[in-house]
Amino acid sequence: MLTTNIQDVQTTPMIQLIGQRRAVRKYKDLPVARDIIEQVLDAGRMAPSAMNRQPWRFYVLTKSETIQAFSKEIAAKALKGLLQTGGSGIRKALKAAAGLLSFSHGINLHLLKDPVFYGAPVVIFLTAPRDNEWAPLDIGMCSQNMMLAAKSLGLDSCPVGFGKFVEKTKIFRQLQVPPSEQVLLAIILGYGDETPEVHKRLQDNILFID
Ligand SMILES: Cc1cc2nc3c(=O)[nH]c(=O)nc-3n(C[C@H](O)[C@H](O)[C@H](O)COP(=O)(O)O)c2cc1C
Repeated sequence: MLTTNIQDVQTTPMIQLIGQRRAVRKYKDLPVARDIIEQVLDAGRMAPSAMNRQPWRFYVLTKSETIQAFSKEIAAKALKGLLQTGGSGIRKALKAAAGLLSFSHGINLHLLKDPVFYGAPVVIFLTAPRDNEWAPLDIGMCSQNMMLAAKSLGLDSCPVGFGKFVEKTKIFRQLQVPPSEQVLLAIILGYGDETPEVHKRLQDNILFID
């Protein structure tokens, strides 16, 4: 059965959980216990991967000063990159900046300290070897496992594509990522302090072939 609101339908706890996960961009000032983070990482490791290469590596930040330092450098590089695209790129850049700082929801002061990771207490950069063509798909699967596991443990999360810009920052070397690996995504985790509305899901994207 197709529906936009699977959380309203009587179904399995797993499908309910899938419907309940949201990209959360506001967090309580509460740490996440190490064993909880490790359970989330274990769920990521259980993802399928092409030829079972398990290409993922995880670089975990949990110290707020460190997270804020990364966040500010990434924001600066990301905006610079967008502005350099020129023309309609500038409009896009300003839109992205406005989105980044959540102007549409009123100015949120914690975003000035942490514009990319939204004050989350845990940031995980996911990397994979540059020469693995399937790695972006594997990382997608791994990330979704992690975010669903997090939700089942009472945490919220958000995938942060902007995290990729970390490679262009000076602070990047602190992560000790070898040159053979690329950063594909960051995931933030924490105890959410907002209940975002569910974005309506498109329904016209299925074709059953008889
Ligand atoms: C690959 C990827 C990159 C994303 N990057 C960002 C990001 O940099 N910043 C952000 O706030 N949200 C980011 N998101 C979250 C999406 O905006 C969000 O998942 C989408 O709006 C749907 O909302 P939902 O997750 O609550 O259903 C990203 C999501 C994905 C899958």
